[in-house]
Amino acid sequence: MKTSRITNYDPTLSVEENAANNNVTVAAIRSFIQAKGIDRSTDRQIYLYDKIKEYASQHPEEKAPRIAAGLGLSANTVRKYLKMQEQPRPKKKKIAVLNQIDKMKFISILNSQTDILKVILAIHRPQRDRFQCDLTAWKLGFYKNGLHKPTLCYDKFSSLLNNREIRDLEDFKTAWPDGSFDNIVIDLPCSVEMPATKSRFDVSTHFSSLDELCSEHEKMLRLAYRKLQTNGILVYKTMDFTFQNAPYWLSDAVLRMAKETGFELIDKFIYADPNQPKIDRRHTRFTSSVPAHAYFFVFRKQTQICYTL
Ligand SMILES: C[S@@+](CC[C@H](N)C(=O)[O-])C[C@H]1O[C@@H](n2cnc3c(N)ncnc32)[C@H](O)[C@@H]1O
Repeated sequence: MKTSRITNYDPTLSVEENAANNNVTVAAIRSFIQAKGIDRSTDRQIYLYDKIKEYASQHPEEKAPRIAAGLGLSANTVRKYLKMQEQPRPKKKKIAVLNQIDKMKFISILNSQTDILKVILAIHRPQRDRFQCDLTAWKLGFYKNGLHKPTLCYDKFSSLLNNREIRDLEDFKTAWPDGSFDNIVIDLPCSVEMPATKSRFDVSTHFSSLDELCSEHEKMLRLAYRKLQTNGILVYKTMDFTFQNAPYWLSDAVLRMAKETGFELIDKFIYADPNQPKIDRRHTRFTSSVPAHAYFFVFRKQTQICYTL
């Protein structure tokens, strides 16, 4: 069994659960752990350390027995981790999957979208273990390798998906009052293809015209702005592309539209797709749809809209 088939290893789950999630044998997960030098016991300790410290910071009045009851742990375990000043470290020559994120906090170009989202969460919402809401959840491709699915998942084309976890985007618009959310994730299509080449399955990946693309991006930015609390964050994936043989700098247009909507850019990550590193955009059928990198912008909702003069 090739360990490369394991794309969704979650250090917080058992070996058996990881085998089931990755559709491989338990033995394959064990050899993956060995080949990568993963220190599972330290991962478990880091998991408990983070969980207990987070709970304690949210409930500053509570003592160990109450925290233990809240988390379903023993009071002694809680006391042990409360006393620790630093996150546990892996044994020599081993790695802990959970502390990789701390090292990645200093890197702004990554080749895993999941890692980018984990880093954004760790830097901008350290008290949370998942995003609250994804409005373009589709196949939930962002959420693997220990990044939990958001509490709420929506998609405009949820009816095409056979997944009851993903609700219709129309419901999001009516179910929540304005200012309900602390954080939202959006990943809209970032390319244009003429309707003639569009199949039923392409609805999730292209728009039919540049006007449609820009107006749909603007609508989603405005929707997110309305539903976010002041200072709430919007994580927005976007990319540039080639349209009618000319580059279209959608990332710049998104920055402009976001600012006009009332967002402030507070962070920026580049995703370099490891599968397309050398794509020659002049000679492939992907000319207008697959660039080799994308951006993850982190916007903060401001109290006042700042228009550029
Ligand atoms: C690139 S996919 C998102 C993939 C997703 N992040 C994942 O990991 O599976 C683009 C998403 O935008 C949604 N979408 C397409 N057109 C839209 C529109 N006009 N308004 C809102 N969402 C739209 C699609 O249904 C699809 O879920």
